[in-house]
Amino acid sequence: MSDTKTTDTMLEVRDIKRDYELPAGFMKPKKTVHAVKGVSFKLERGKTLAIVGESGCGKSTLARMITFIDEPTAGELIIDGQKMDTRPGHLTPEMRQKVQIVFQNPYGSLNPRQKIGDVLGEPLAINTSMPASERRDRATEMLIKVGLGPEHYNRYPHMFSGGQRQRIAIARALMMNPKLLVLDEPVSALDLSVQAQVLNLLADLQDEFDLTYVFISHDLSVVRYIADEVMVMYFGEAVEYGTRDEVFSAPKHEYTQTLFKATPRADVDSIRARVAKKKAASAA
Ligand SMILES: Nc1ncnc2c1ncn2[C@@H]1O[C@H](COP(=O)(O)OP(=O)(O)OP(=O)(O)O)[C@@H](O)[C@H]1O
Ligand SMILES: [Mg+2]
Repeated sequence: MSDTKTTDTMLEVRDIKRDYELPAGFMKPKKTVHAVKGVSFKLERGKTLAIVGESGCGKSTLARMITFIDEPTAGELIIDGQKMDTRPGHLTPEMRQKVQIVFQNPYGSLNPRQKIGDVLGEPLAINTSMPASERRDRATEMLIKVGLGPEHYNRYPHMFSGGQRQRIAIARALMMNPKLLVLDEPVSALDLSVQAQVLNLLADLQDEFDLTYVFISHDLSVVRYIADEVMVMYFGEAVEYGTRDEVFSAPKHEYTQTLFKATPRADVDSIRARVAKKKAASAA
């Protein structure tokens, strides 16, 4: 960590908004979708904020704004103590490097013709002048960090399972040493035992690299396992924000209460048990 830090807030979002203009169609006038309607929060370094809410409530839109994929219509984004200038062409490579995103389906973002070693080395090749041999070393080191091995370096994306591909996506996101990782439904497409392994990996990496996570999920048992703070979104607004225990033990907003009632009781213990079993099996 740098000595110049004056704050322990890694991410601050101030009244951020995003509208999408939908063009007019046959018998349909032009329309504006208010996808995110003014969301504010602060997230401390090294912590995990889970964002939950029903489909279409604006979670991914918020994720895209935090990771500079979408420009906010209004509001401010302060990352690592620095106000971001999100206008096109104003973001510096240093700002971009600080924040990375992992999507639900990494296959879509992996080039099928690119070897995994090159997938991992690419951000360094584009953004740094690091020699090829060092890039290779760093990619190999990162493969090991995410629970894969040097033997995977020359393989192609189709040769991996869904869980392994998600490990590759995480490794790629970490190649530039980001501080903030936005994970948009990163385990939703995986089956339960693989989910548990990937969540466990994310927890280990967070400790090792002092990472701050914004973790989007619709699965409350996953949220309960991973979150320090929880934000509930509803129609583009944050209707609830608090520590995990506050939100789970006494949900205040009517929508959160309905959401929690509609979901089977969180089985964080069974996730933990599965993780422990897998760890014991791989250690044996
Ligand atoms: N590029 C876009 N153009 C127009 N409308 C969009 C665009 N992206 C998102 N929207 C709209 O904004 C709203 C929020 O979408 P968003 O993808 O952020 O929801 P979400 O909470 O991530 O949903 P899900 O859980 O299904 O992933 C939706 O009404 C969606 O149709
Ligand atoms: Mg989404």
